[in-house]
Amino acid sequence: MRMYDLIRKKRDGGILSRDEIAYMVKEYTRGDIPDYQMSAMMMAIYFKGMDREETLSLTMEMAKSGEMLDLSLIKGTKVDKHSTGGVGDKTSLALAPMVAACGVPVAKMSGRGLGHTGGTIDKLESIPGFSTALETEQFISQVNEIGIAIMGQTKELAPADKKLYALRDVTATVDNLSLIASSIMSKKLASGADAIILDVKTGSGAFMKKEEDAFALAREMVRIGRGAGRYTAAVISDMDQPLGYAIGNALEVKEAIDTLQGKGPDDFVELCLTLGAEMVMAGGKARTTEEARALLHKKIEDGSALNKLAEFVKAQGGDENYIYEPDRFSIAPLKKEVRAKESGWLSHIDCEEAGLCSLILGGGRENKESVIDLGVGLVLAKKKGDQVEEGDVLATLYGRDEEKLSEAAAKYEAACHVGAESVIRLPFIKGMIRE
Ligand code: URA
Repeated sequence: MRMYDLIRKKRDGGILSRDEIAYMVKEYTRGDIPDYQMSAMMMAIYFKGMDREETLSLTMEMAKSGEMLDLSLIKGTKVDKHSTGGVGDKTSLALAPMVAACGVPVAKMSGRGLGHTGGTIDKLESIPGFSTALETEQFISQVNEIGIAIMGQTKELAPADKKLYALRDVTATVDNLSLIASSIMSKKLASGADAIILDVKTGSGAFMKKEEDAFALAREMVRIGRGAGRYTAAVISDMDQPLGYAIGNALEVKEAIDTLQGKGPDDFVELCLTLGAEMVMAGGKARTTEEARALLHKKIEDGSALNKLAEFVKAQGGDENYIYEPDRFSIAPLKKEVRAKESGWLSHIDCEEAGLCSLILGGGRENKESVIDLGVGLVLAKKKGDQVEEGDVLATLYGRDEEKLSEAAAKYEAACHVGAESVIRLPFIKGMIRE
């Protein structure tokens, strides 16, 4: 087989066979196909697309390019959740203990933040002592013992995707549906869970800005998951404004704790219940959505979800006192408020810009080597659709440097729009794909 022939075939609109895709992924991962040939292939795929069979083959071959985690030693149906990323997305921090408290084992691999979105691993590291550097055996035995473990993604997980994603990033070939779906799903399949629940975001802070694109991506990923023999479902949720009120690592952990204490923001609680219900049903602990939501509610009300978070934090070396006394979190000492310049209704918050404010304050990575400040960020006071009076606080920013605070405050002010008309609040959950 020659890569040249495969590129020509795809360029001319041909369909690549499983063997051809396997050859291409294997040889590229090994370094025997050069970047320039793979770039040409990615561009050919970008223009000519891939059918379902090709997309599934690409996903499976990328998943198999490294270690396929074997979680069979964990009892019960292991359920994983994946978000396509957004601003203020602290969902795993509340959702994982909620679901684990219902008796569904949560064995999760998470990533770090890059750009305007944050990562679960960074957020968890704002709890002193907490570590996600677990060995696989430790990860498995912790899930068997307490029903929950979160570890950082290993280097061996889908190395073909790692290499391909870096290449796509610099060759303008990221935004192709088959390539995005196969990239995300290859990592999920390699992580070993029996069931995968996807949270596909749409709106100004999401990867998929348009709702129809988010639905198409969700459908494609569910199809791949099912094709690979894993139960897969997707929720399409709003990311046209930050999720909840807090943006920034420690601030988000505090908001997740508030949520497990029954004091969570409406949109965030709704997301946790919607995704949680899918996970609890996939794990066989409820038959209907209503039953699953009631169970999840109960685990918040009786404190067992919060206790599960504390147990999980302790098991991974963290100080569980922070969970019961969240005022211990070290938040940056300087504060700056952004106030409304006029009265009306908050009609728009550019979500990506709001995420960038946290980045300016030092809470996000500009590149992989950046060291981040876990105590900075912002807490919104108003959300889209809220009525505001001139002078009302829109958000409070927390930082360590006056200059950066002023820069971020100006950015946040520009990200908000107050209009004279009241705003129709659109549903937060846009839809669900189960098959
Ligand atoms: N996230 C991924 O992991 N892969 C993509 O291709 C896009 C977003």
